[in-house]
Amino acid sequence: MRIRPLRSTPETPLSPVSAPPEAMRAAIIEACGEADALREASIPVPSPVLSELLVRVVAAGVNPIDAKTRAGAGVSAAIAQYPSALGFDFSGIVVKSPYESHPFPPGTAVFGMAAFPRTGGSYAEYVVAPSLSVARKPAALSHVEAAGVPLAALTAWGLVVETAHAHEGQRMLIHAGSGGVGHFAVQFAAYFGAHVTATASGRNAGWLRELGASVVIDYTTTRFEEVVGEVDVVIDLVGNVRAETGTRSLEVLRPGGLYVLVPTGGWPGYAVAAAQAGVRATSYKVIPDGSALATVARLLDSGAVQVYIDQVFELSDAAAAHRAIEAGHTRGKIVLRVSDD
Ligand SMILES: NC(=O)c1ccc[n+]([C@@H]2O[C@H](COP(=O)([O-])OP(=O)(O)OC[C@H]3O[C@@H](n4cnc5c(N)ncnc54)[C@H](OP(=O)(O)O)[C@@H]3O)[C@@H](O)[C@H]2O)c1
Repeated sequence: MRIRPLRSTPETPLSPVSAPPEAMRAAIIEACGEADALREASIPVPSPVLSELLVRVVAAGVNPIDAKTRAGAGVSAAIAQYPSALGFDFSGIVVKSPYESHPFPPGTAVFGMAAFPRTGGSYAEYVVAPSLSVARKPAALSHVEAAGVPLAALTAWGLVVETAHAHEGQRMLIHAGSGGVGHFAVQFAAYFGAHVTATASGRNAGWLRELGASVVIDYTTTRFEEVVGEVDVVIDLVGNVRAETGTRSLEVLRPGGLYVLVPTGGWPGYAVAAAQAGVRATSYKVIPDGSALATVARLLDSGAVQVYIDQVFELSDAAAAHRAIEAGHTRGKIVLRVSDD
């Protein structure tokens, strides 16, 4: 795909806003545990402080870190008190702004991340979010579509653009190209002119080619290191958690190439192994950057990049959404529908 000039995100008219109630529906946990630990309850509406926004949530995105946190890993150590509403991604309408001339006044349609990586709480009718973790919702997207974007797209942006500096002629291998992060990573890399090889199961091959992958390798039938040739960058969204994907990735990198490990703790020995193999290596942690999200919004509005929503669950069915994300075969994103537009 060639780089095209971007239009500004068109402004959506402000929506009417009502004063928030004292209590709201939320999907909460009272302790870490299995997916069934996640249930709907009534909890107080949170109060924004200083530069924070209060947003009425229309839809909330589901990410693997939500399920890891619920299970006692992820960012569970940062849960300050129970019951705790889970979730970071949201799309909705600003209800309270920090000050009168703030760029996101009440009624603005926004999407973004709740206080990541600490309190979260987007699986709820209202969420508090730092102003800097929010952008205007792409006008071309519904709230359900927009809610699938923030964490996954910002991760992909951080990996492909800010870390790997995707450019014309660069050869990039992206593992799990069909997942939440992967399908954005494939599109960003192709947009900036890289030659993209993605791994996924065969059912996703045609779709990934439509998104910009030049080559798709079915990891269920083919060992990628036997067919991929030499690449400049590996974006590893799997790690050594499955089939020694990280170790095998070092075999396909050119001398001095770059290996990027994404799942936290997905391969503790990656740095030593990469040094021995003569390649550079780094891990990565997503940053909830609202200005990068605004750039992503422009790409979405222009049609250069798309979000794919695999499944939509009701807020009351958040446990089922967690079981689905934990199965590890989501195409694109899973989203919770929280309230009406
Ligand atoms: N460090 C950070 O800041 C950060 C940020 C975001 C995500 N992450 C982590 O990165 C990982 C990916 O996140 P995500 O949201 O993209 O997950 P996801 O949406 O759940 O990924 C699912 C995809 O993985 C594919 N897949 C499963 N096993 C595979 C294998 N062995 N080889 C290739 N593809 C495989 C599946 O393809 P098929 O259905 O075709 O099998 C599916 O499409 C997670 O571990 C997540 O926690 C880290």
